[in-house]
Amino acid sequence: MERNDMSPPLTSSKIEDLFGEGFIERSKEWVDQYKKLMAYYRCAMMEVETKLNVLNEEFSLRHDRNPINDIKSRLKDPLSVKEKMERKGFPLTPESIEENLADVAGVRVVCSFPEDVYTLANALLGQDDVTLIEMKDYIKNPKKNGYRSLHLIIKVPIFLAREKRSMKVEIQLRTIAMDVWASLEHQLHYKKDFDFTEEMANELIYCAALSAELDERMDALRMLVSSSEKEEK
Ligand code: GTP
Ligand code: MG
Repeated sequence: MERNDMSPPLTSSKIEDLFGEGFIERSKEWVDQYKKLMAYYRCAMMEVETKLNVLNEEFSLRHDRNPINDIKSRLKDPLSVKEKMERKGFPLTPESIEENLADVAGVRVVCSFPEDVYTLANALLGQDDVTLIEMKDYIKNPKKNGYRSLHLIIKVPIFLAREKRSMKVEIQLRTIAMDVWASLEHQLHYKKDFDFTEEMANELIYCAALSAELDERMDALRMLVSSSEKEEK
């Protein structure tokens, strides 16, 4: 970046004149606390990923196939955290972020079949250190635009050197077909200044119905294959 040599240097005392005494110290403290909080969320995502990988491993031993196709974790970026806190009218402090946002840590689990979504969700929720905060079943009740997925907000403990903390994690479970629809719909909506026409929205709803049918038919096939396998044994 080009430096403007005409502007006077921004000294610490100038910053404190502008923003009040102790501003720099308070800002440093804020950044330290924020970094710490994000590290806790990363640990919570690791815990959830490990739990899911263990369930995947055990399931594949028993059934000779993997219920999980892919797991992706993401930490909400600072700008999105700021935007959401401001939109919801909450103060932008680390305590308030932890209290009021449920989706700072997000884990997306792409499963093979619809049944796997519920098998995994139930197995996870059955663990005695996992607490369910909220569940939204957009598979049984899809959104008006056609979106399908099972959303869970859970609390999971992380064990630190001197304490145990319980952290919120948002988990989205969906099939490959649901993931294809959601990813493409998200891409199409990326241009925020453009509104879908009714025709376009209807086309998306139609594609969602096709993806739901694909899931149903593949699930029926899965059951057929599994019962034929049992007969052979
Ligand atoms: P926000 O968390 O503020 O977005 O609203 P909410 O708490 O009502 O969230 P909800 O559980 O409905 O959805 C949370 C997340 O699910 C979003 O951030 C997306 O990742 C995903 N999601 C929800 N609806 C859609 C949708 O229509 N299309 C796509 N592609 N993703 C969606
Ligand atoms: Mg949410």
